[in-house]
Amino acid sequence: MRRRPSSSTAAARRPDAVSKAVSRFAAGWAQDALLVLAGVLAFFVVAGRFELFERLQAATRGLEHWQLDELPLTLLALSLGLLWFGWRRVVDARQALAARTVAEQQAQALLTENRELAQALIRVQDTERRALARELHDEFGQHCTAIRADARYIARATDVPAVAEGACRIDESAERLHGLVREMLDRLRPPDLDSLGLEAAVQALCERWEVQTGIGCAFVPRPGSPALPDDVAVTVYRLVQEALTNVARHAEASHVQIVFEPLPSAEGLRLRITDDGCGLAPDRHPAGAGGGHGLAGMRERVAGYGGTLKLDNVEGGGLRIEADLPLENLPA
Ligand SMILES: Nc1ncnc2c1ncn2[C@@H]1O[C@H](COP(=O)(O)OP(=O)(O)OP(=O)(O)O)[C@@H](O)[C@H]1O
Ligand SMILES: [Mg+2]
Repeated sequence: MRRRPSSSTAAARRPDAVSKAVSRFAAGWAQDALLVLAGVLAFFVVAGRFELFERLQAATRGLEHWQLDELPLTLLALSLGLLWFGWRRVVDARQALAARTVAEQQAQALLTENRELAQALIRVQDTERRALARELHDEFGQHCTAIRADARYIARATDVPAVAEGACRIDESAERLHGLVREMLDRLRPPDLDSLGLEAAVQALCERWEVQTGIGCAFVPRPGSPALPDDVAVTVYRLVQEALTNVARHAEASHVQIVFEPLPSAEGLRLRITDDGCGLAPDRHPAGAGGGHGLAGMRERVAGYGGTLKLDNVEGGGLRIEADLPLENLPA
């Protein structure tokens, strides 16, 4: 379906950029040296033509008691000194550049490692959640059903009204518990994702949310988009969930739009969620720092894929969240 280059491919591209910078530096250095040589040659021709050295000698001879006749040789010594000084700076600059290159490569390697760890963490979390959801569904759900069946049996079989009432209350409590577990299951693992796929699951979420909140919600899917890997689909679903929760809680919006589109410059997905509410308060802008954990969690999830999360207040009111999820850095 799609190629997943290893992180080392991306790392291999970086030294390319570094070697380009080094060769640009070397080319500039050679150009400057040529200019200096041309200048010296031109000076030599002019000096020869106008006998500059002889004129200087003649001019300084009269000032011998000030030792100014030593000036030409002193200037030559100064030029040699400056040449040595310049050469030392070039060597220093090369060493600094090499050290910087190594540091940059180390920083990039650490960033890659960090991103892979974040991805692994998200995958482990989702696997755990799925396992927990399975356990809850199979164990808890079945026991609730059994309790309800027993309670109904007791209610039917007993002649004692107080016992029948008690059994009915047990039945109702077990039903409520079962409902609670079902809600928890939905939160642990969006059920629509498995059965419907991401786009239909987001559409269903959008419709449910619209009914619950009374805020209009429109979803624009990517035309003919290939299915995303499971963990990416869960991430996108969670991003939409948190953004919609925030709109309902903070935005005072009347409408929200969710758009999936391809990334302009790389393989991946851009998720854009725009509401027409009050937008982020200035002290929250642009990172949404402080306060809750929702935006921070969204940022972490996106960063796990080497992506970016942008929050912008839109003109005329409202907040636009743009999450870019490149799919090239996924581990094989
Ligand atoms: N769509 C939005 N419109 C206006 N303000 C928003 C919107 N989304 C988030 N915010 C602001 O950004 C803050 C941080 O959001 P975040 O989701 O991180 O935390 P929270 O929703 O307050 O709490 P939590 O998500 O942890 O339950 C919010 O408190 C709110 O002030
Ligand atoms: Mg929130």
